[in-house]
Amino acid sequence: MLIVKHETYNDMSRAVANMIAREIRNNPHTVLCLATGSTPIGIYQELVRLHREEDLDFSQVTTFNLDEYYGLDKNDPQSYSYFMREHLFAHVNVSEQNIHHIRVPSNNLEDVARYCQEYELKIKQAGGFDILIDGIGLNGHIGFNEPADELQSYTHLVDLTQSTIEANSRFFSSMDEVPRHALTMGMATILGAKKILLVASGKHKAEIVNTIMDATITTQIPATLLHLHHDTEMHVDSKAAQLVDQKRSAERS
Ligand code: PGA
Repeated sequence: MLIVKHETYNDMSRAVANMIAREIRNNPHTVLCLATGSTPIGIYQELVRLHREEDLDFSQVTTFNLDEYYGLDKNDPQSYSYFMREHLFAHVNVSEQNIHHIRVPSNNLEDVARYCQEYELKIKQAGGFDILIDGIGLNGHIGFNEPADELQSYTHLVDLTQSTIEANSRFFSSMDEVPRHALTMGMATILGAKKILLVASGKHKAEIVNTIMDATITTQIPATLLHLHHDTEMHVDSKAAQLVDQKRSAERS
């Protein structure tokens, strides 16, 4: 896994957006796997700017979302479908039929496995992801693949950990409102991407970035499995890189 450092959050967002834009210009049928959370917002803003000001064309692009809360209506402002519409899809010319979300009709637990399999099939039929973008959880989760003794390979329903519920409660008016379950691509779905771009920003991510860069692979820190991938880059701003920098300069002295 390559670590790529940028001075600021905006520098990082611009650099990653430019990589995506380059891919789309080279291959108008690019298949993207997209993530929510605070970190990718700057990337989406820059992609919207590139569409408006520099004619970046999304008309043939296909998107899949990495994860989604279980049980929230797609119009719920906390749903990831809503998030993606707000931050990207409403502002670029991506075709509605090329946008894919992991959605199971609410309260329909029996159908979950079937919907997950259908989602995997759609990814396969699209030819897999050219680029996958993802933030990193404070506990090292990837998508909603939470630390555990065993990780699932393909799209599935998960129980969110307390750490994730607490971290995500900032988007809700109370902790009780945070959904306890989510749907997420599995580790094999993610590792199937041709290129993976992880993004991390801010001092609070410095510790997990440093832990992941240690290169020991453990299911207790799902992001470490990305060391098995041939083309993963972790893009960080200077604050998220702090501990990695300190460690490397200590090793040199
Ligand atoms: P964040 O979330 O970008 O809001 O920090 C990342 C994650 O939890 O995967």
